[in-house]
Amino acid sequence: MSLHRSLAAALAALLATSVLLCSPLCATATDDHKPIVARVRKDAATSLYTIVIKVGGVPLLLDLAGPLLWLANCPTPHRTIPCGTDVCEGVNYMNHPTKGNCWNERMSSPFDACRDGGVCTTYPYNPVNGRCTQDDATTITLAANTTDGENPLSEVSFRAVGSCAPGDLLASLPAGAAGVAGLSRLPLSLPTQFGTILKVAKQFALCLPGGGSDGVAVFGGGPFQLLAAPPVELADGLRQNQLPLLKNPMINNGAYYFRITGIAVNQQQVPTPPGAFDLDGGSGTGGAIFSTVTPYTALRPDIYRPLHDAFDAATSGIARAPPVAPFDMCYQASALTVTRLGYGVANIDLTLDGGQTWTLPGGSSLVQVNDQTVCFAFVQMAPSMPAAADSPAAADSPAVILGGFQMENHLLIFDLEKETFAFSGLLFGIRTTCSNFNFTMGSS
Ligand SMILES: *[C@@H]1O[C@H](CO)[C@@H](O)[C@H](O)[C@H]1NC(C)=O
Ligand SMILES: *[C@@H]1O[C@H](CO)[C@@H](O)[C@H](O)[C@H]1NC(C)=O
Repeated sequence: MSLHRSLAAALAALLATSVLLCSPLCATATDDHKPIVARVRKDAATSLYTIVIKVGGVPLLLDLAGPLLWLANCPTPHRTIPCGTDVCEGVNYMNHPTKGNCWNERMSSPFDACRDGGVCTTYPYNPVNGRCTQDDATTITLAANTTDGENPLSEVSFRAVGSCAPGDLLASLPAGAAGVAGLSRLPLSLPTQFGTILKVAKQFALCLPGGGSDGVAVFGGGPFQLLAAPPVELADGLRQNQLPLLKNPMINNGAYYFRITGIAVNQQQVPTPPGAFDLDGGSGTGGAIFSTVTPYTALRPDIYRPLHDAFDAATSGIARAPPVAPFDMCYQASALTVTRLGYGVANIDLTLDGGQTWTLPGGSSLVQVNDQTVCFAFVQMAPSMPAAADSPAAADSPAVILGGFQMENHLLIFDLEKETFAFSGLLFGIRTTCSNFNFTMGSS
């Protein structure tokens, strides 16, 4: 669309002038066209993920469906962006798929509401508690290493457009996080801006860690290697097997929608209502999205119930334990066997476009919650409230929100130009994990 094109040009112009202000680490022409690599961490207290891409190694919440970059407590003074520019329009081109959004605030004021002095205002959003606020659009200095897909190569620092935010917008985020990094398909998300600033492909590889040690994200394409015996390059193979991303026709929220056509447990189709997974073109409800701010996959009740019952039946021989919130089906840890792919239980298979199957073995379907207890790692979405004819479900209520736990230790590649994604399956199957990127500096 034309906003994307004119915005890319405006952004390039705006950020070109800022290169002069950069530290000695500044990206130079020779670093252009190289992908960059960043560490991804899991916060044990919140089960949310952060990405380390800010100068000084300060983590930012990683929000796959987030529209933009924001940083709490901007310095005073900070750089501002004039009203009425394409960049200003871009920072306000946002919405959020799953947990409320800034839509109402924005619609009750002019589109790019400008405050005194013609300074561009944005609406940073906290995707965990759903709060919105208003602050200045600004430029934020980021730092990362270039990569050949095997090692970090050399440090680069550059500016990206984002938003300031008051310190209290950090509530509910992992301790130590300084803001939010939005990785959506919208014009001012990080992968889109990196494409323009670093002149790399608008695509990224995301490998969420299971906790403990760091996972990894690579922006800009190229190979992706994990240590194993021997090391494995995964990106090439995945790119041969891409599936379409869908867009919500009613609401341009930048979320990564994909098509699920059915779910099976132990190869048996789960009896979900016809069309249960469809993204409804008329209302914009339904469909499946990826979310890194949803710790465990959330399913609409008409899908959760039959899946729960099928898994219950398939695991009927395994001793149960009292449920531990937010889960409602738990097992005694001592009653489960452990395989290379996690707990030895029936597989859950998601049937995707073209009949491809995403298999969730025990390592992705069950989570250990304490020494004695392991739980079915899915949750039921709150029924859309109130189910009256005059208040239909919001256009941004998906049927399936594929959450962080189910993405962990999978390599996922999102291509914003081709509008496709690809997934590796649980990496334990090839004897590696997302914590096996070699972060030792290599030689460029
Ligand atoms: C680049 O990689 C090295 C080696 O892992 C690391 O020490 C350094 O902090 C990284 N730099 C940035 C900006 O991430
Ligand atoms: C990690 O990369 C460094 C630099 O290329 C290399 O020397 C080292 O052997 C690698 N580590 C492993 C375990 O392969």
